[in-house]
Amino acid sequence: MIEKLKHKYALSSKGAKDMVRAFIAVTLSNLVLMLPVGLLYLLASYLLDNQLLQEKFVFFLIAIVVILICIALTTVFQYRATFLSTYVESGVRRRTLAEKLRKLPLSYFGKKDLADLTNTIMSDCALLETASSHWIPELIGAMISTTIIVISLLFFDFRMALAAIWVMPIAFAIVLYSRKAMRHTHEKTNVYRIDCLDGIQEGLETLRDLRANNMCDQYMESLNEKIKAVEKHAIFAEFTNAAFVCSAQMILKLGIGTVAVVGSYLLVKGEITVLTFFMFLLVVTRMYEPLQISLQNLSAMISLDTNCKRMDEILSHDEQTGNDTLTNEGYDIVFDHVAFAYNQKEQVLSDVSFTAKQGEVTALIGPSGGGKTTISRLAARFYDIDSGKITVGGMDISKIDPEKLLEFYSIVFQDVILFNNTIME
Ligand SMILES: Nc1ncnc2c1ncn2[C@@H]1O[C@H](COP(=O)(O)OP(=O)(O)OP(=O)(O)O)[C@@H](O)[C@H]1O
Ligand SMILES: [Mg+2]
Repeated sequence: MIEKLKHKYALSSKGAKDMVRAFIAVTLSNLVLMLPVGLLYLLASYLLDNQLLQEKFVFFLIAIVVILICIALTTVFQYRATFLSTYVESGVRRRTLAEKLRKLPLSYFGKKDLADLTNTIMSDCALLETASSHWIPELIGAMISTTIIVISLLFFDFRMALAAIWVMPIAFAIVLYSRKAMRHTHEKTNVYRIDCLDGIQEGLETLRDLRANNMCDQYMESLNEKIKAVEKHAIFAEFTNAAFVCSAQMILKLGIGTVAVVGSYLLVKGEITVLTFFMFLLVVTRMYEPLQISLQNLSAMISLDTNCKRMDEILSHDEQTGNDTLTNEGYDIVFDHVAFAYNQKEQVLSDVSFTAKQGEVTALIGPSGGGKTTISRLAARFYDIDSGKITVGGMDISKIDPEKLLEFYSIVFQDVILFNNTIME
């Protein structure tokens, strides 16, 4: 179970264990909230039996205090198990992602745009925060506690219990059955959202050029189109979710009606007592509450799949690894029949061989777009080559740890970036 949770919700081992604790906490919390119903039942039965309440006063007082303490303790336990561990886990998840991105080859960033990655690290992580503090524990907790309550009700009076629970499988089936549609609309909205974020980021990065060329209006028009597309798809996705979830919630409410009808019928026939009827009415109004929220959580969790997949895709991508012991003799850089393409469509280098000797200046001269910068990037293993071999001092660089290899290099690129930092730094 721990392994499954880890994979499904991109959790650490500790995070997965904490989530199981959260399930237990929410279950206990839901069950404890049923204790007042039990106490009310007792109180009503004493009243109906005309027993003297003064004699039972101390008992009820103690019971109320005990229930209050139980509610307080389970609430504290629930908060600790859900919120505290969620934010610790969220920090771990963001750090793991950042660590992973540090080790991925630069070719990965060529395939993914920056807005997509930023969105994964910030928004997807934040969504998982809400999921692990609310949606998942509340859903699982409600399922476990409702099962326990339903079993007790079945023992109490199975006809009344059936009148109360027939709605549950139907309500959940509606949401589960519609998961394909919900997932589809959510995925589509996500594509438009990332396109929009990408547009905003591009605009901010190129603002100087846009102004210099008097193209701001044109750019705003295209951005406006993207924003409108997100708006349209987000509304449609919400509408799809709401249609299924609200129908399921309405079905759930029907349970109260059937309990009232079946209860009245059995009461008239003298097959149940007023007390049983009263207790069932009390229980069903409380029992459906966590389930109503769970239906919403379930639909949110169905949409969450897309976000988890995106995170998992980063985490399971192959890293650039290698040896961190250096066995080089000298620092000659040798390209030996090297071929490389940033993407399949366009071959940038093919069959390139040369030696850049230690202690000498080697200049690459050629037309713009000829591949000079690409060669310098490959020599420092920013990308892995498609065929051939690159060596430094006789060591094959594809077998050296990228960060260790960079100890050999100082690079000044043509696209200058000024970091917002001190001169000392
Ligand atoms: N990150 C990248 N992703 C995809 N293609 C790229 C990338 N960087 C460069 N290219 C392509 O690779 C080819 C070689 O580019 P490169 O920058 O190495 O040329 P260059 O010789 O340094 O040019 P310049 O003299 O203008 O600096 C070009 O066709 C360029 O469009
Ligand atoms: Mg260049």
